[in-house]
Amino acid sequence: MKRIKFIAVILVASVTVLSIGCDDSHQHPGRIYMPDMAYSRAYETYAQHDSALFTVDPTDKGRKIFYNSKPAEGTIKRGELFPYPLAKDTNNYKISGTVKSPLDSLSRKDIAEAGRLFNINCAICHGEKAQGNGPLGTSGKIGAIANLTLPNYVAMADGTMFYSVTYGKNQMGSYASQLTRLQRWEIIKYIRTLQTKPGGATTTAAGAPAAGGGKDSSTVKKG
Ligand code: HEC
Repeated sequence: MKRIKFIAVILVASVTVLSIGCDDSHQHPGRIYMPDMAYSRAYETYAQHDSALFTVDPTDKGRKIFYNSKPAEGTIKRGELFPYPLAKDTNNYKISGTVKSPLDSLSRKDIAEAGRLFNINCAICHGEKAQGNGPLGTSGKIGAIANLTLPNYVAMADGTMFYSVTYGKNQMGSYASQLTRLQRWEIIKYIRTLQTKPGGATTTAAGAPAAGGGKDSSTVKKG
C-alpha cells in the first residue's frame, strides 16, 4: 500500500512539473536553429509595409525584404500565354499584324465565355453586335467608336486588334490589366464570329457607314 501511495505521489509530481515546463517553453523556446522559420516574416498583400524592413528598390535586395506586390520577373501564371513580344510604340502598331493569334479555333464553350467577356468589357461602347452602337456610343459621350463589323476591321489582322486592346487606342483604354492575354485573343476570335453574322456591314465599301447602324468608320483615326 505504501508503495502505491509513493508511485501516485511521484506521478502527480511529474505531471505537475511537466505541465509547468510546457507552459514555460512558450516564453522561452530555447535555442533556435533557423530564426527565419521560427519568426515568420510574413507580409499582408495590401498592408502598409515597414520601410525599415521592406523595400521596393531592387538594389536594396538582400539588405531588406524586397516586395513590390508584382509577380517575380520572368514568371508566367499557370494557364497564361507567353508574354506579348511588342512594346507600346507607333512603329510596333504598324507591324502588330505580323503577330499571329496563338489560337486556331475555339470550342463552343470558350466562344461562349469570350462572348460573356466581350459583353462585360466591350459592349458598353462597341455594342453587343460590335457595330459601335453600345450605350456609351449612342449616348454621345464617346465618339468615333469603331464599328468592328465594317470591312476595314474584317480585314484587320488579329495581331493589330490584340495590340489595340492591349495598349488602348485614342478613346479606348488598355485592357491588359482586366483581361489575361488568353482572354484578349479569345475575345478577338469572338469578334470574328460577329463580323460574319448577317446584319453586319461586311458588304459595304471600306469607310462607308454601316447598313445596320453604328458610327461612320471614316471618322475613326488610323494610327
Ligand atoms: C470606352 C469605350 C470603348 C470600350 C469599352 C472598348 N472600346 Fe474598342 N474602341 C473604342 C474606340 C473609340 C475605338 C476607335 C479607336 C480609334 O481608332 O480611334 C475602338 C477601337 C477598337 C478596335 C480597333 C483597333 C484599331 O487598331 O483600329 C478594336 C479591335 C476594339 N476597339 C476592340 C475592343 C475590345 C475587344 C474591347 C473590350 C475588351 C473594347 N474594344 C472596348 C472604344 C471602346
